[in-house]
Amino acid sequence: MTPRHDRRLYPWGLLVILGVFLVVPLLPYALAEKDSPILVPNPGAELWRDARRAQAGTTQVAGVETGVLIDDGGERWRAYRSQWLTPYGASILGGVFGVLVLYLLMRGRIRIAGGRSGRTLRRHSRLVRGVHWFTALVFLILGLSGLTLLYGKWVLIPLLGPEGFAVTARVCKQVHNYSGPLFVVAIPLLFSVFLRDNRLDPKVDLNWLMRLGGHLGGRHPSAGKFNVGQKAWYWIAVLAGAVLCVSGLLLDFPNFGQGRGLMQLSHLFHTIAGVIILAFFLVHLYAVIAMEGVFEAMVKGRVDANWARQHHDLWYAKLDGNSDGEGPE
Ligand code: HEM
Ligand code: HEM
Repeated sequence: MTPRHDRRLYPWGLLVILGVFLVVPLLPYALAEKDSPILVPNPGAELWRDARRAQAGTTQVAGVETGVLIDDGGERWRAYRSQWLTPYGASILGGVFGVLVLYLLMRGRIRIAGGRSGRTLRRHSRLVRGVHWFTALVFLILGLSGLTLLYGKWVLIPLLGPEGFAVTARVCKQVHNYSGPLFVVAIPLLFSVFLRDNRLDPKVDLNWLMRLGGHLGGRHPSAGKFNVGQKAWYWIAVLAGAVLCVSGLLLDFPNFGQGRGLMQLSHLFHTIAGVIILAFFLVHLYAVIAMEGVFEAMVKGRVDANWARQHHDLWYAKLDGNSDGEGPE
């Protein structure tokens, strides 16, 4: 297989991995008992059972599924949300957070080898930094308000009481609903400004991956402007971000004729993609906190030359002729 074919396979591979991540957690939902009988010896219950079984009755109310009195799928969706999504999402996010904090405490920060040189190189233009921080700000608002909707019941009711939580949840719901469309603007911008340097380079990327970016010890593996860990974050952010945008718009605007089934499925995909993007975001944050000299890349747009040589030697080598760095300030 030629490297050209190889390169084309990588994005597809990532797409398949994201698909598996999104679809596998939905299997219990798909396989759940569809019609569990309610064994209550009440003659009136038969009436409700009939209403539940009927696909649709007749009504003069105009609109989608207005003739459906009891939505059977809603019960399945509710049970799946509270019995699977919520606890497994919490275990994944809590687990990733715990492992990263432990690793940071054990390993400490990654210092610039040989200290700072005092010579800085241009790394990100004002436009790129603007797009990045706009995306990050909207992401933080959406993440915090989304997590409050998902977990506030357990975390905030003991602190704020039921009335306090009701107010917080109402505010978070409105904030989430209104800031969602901003993310729909941010994701294509993020995709465009970082695409060029996040294309995969199989030989360099595989070598970096096999040596886990130097975390296994030994010489720091080579990397271009971004290493494969950063590239994975870029592609996860863009792909899971796209799933969040499409499913979020379907939830945000229920007035476009979508039925309850599609809304329920959108909600499940939305929450699974939300957990995936938040888990990988924690890794992104770990890298920024753990690595000395990286934060300034996105704040000032410049990095120390020794940092560049240590972590992105191929990028450094490409620049060195033009020692002020690349592109506009
Ligand atoms: C408080 C939150 C965040 C902080 C402190 C932060 C910090 C940084 C820093 C310092 C870099 C520069 C890395 C380098 O030049 O090697 C960076 C790059 C990047 N960040 Fe963030 N970031 C945050 C949130 C986000 C979010 C929410 C997203 C996307 C949804 C994101 C996507 C990216 C991307 C795509 C890059 C380029 C490197 C890559 O392709 O992975 N960041 N970030
Ligand atoms: C960083 C990206 C995002 C994250 C992490 C996120 C996360 C979440 C979470 C965790 C929930 C709660 C699910 C539940 O209670 O079971 C939720 C609900 C929702 N999200 Fe997002 N979301 C994001 C982006 C978006 C976007 C881009 C939109 C719209 C375009 C959107 C629209 C909605 C809507 C309408 C709901 C339902 C709110 C309600 O209960 O009324 N979200 N989101």
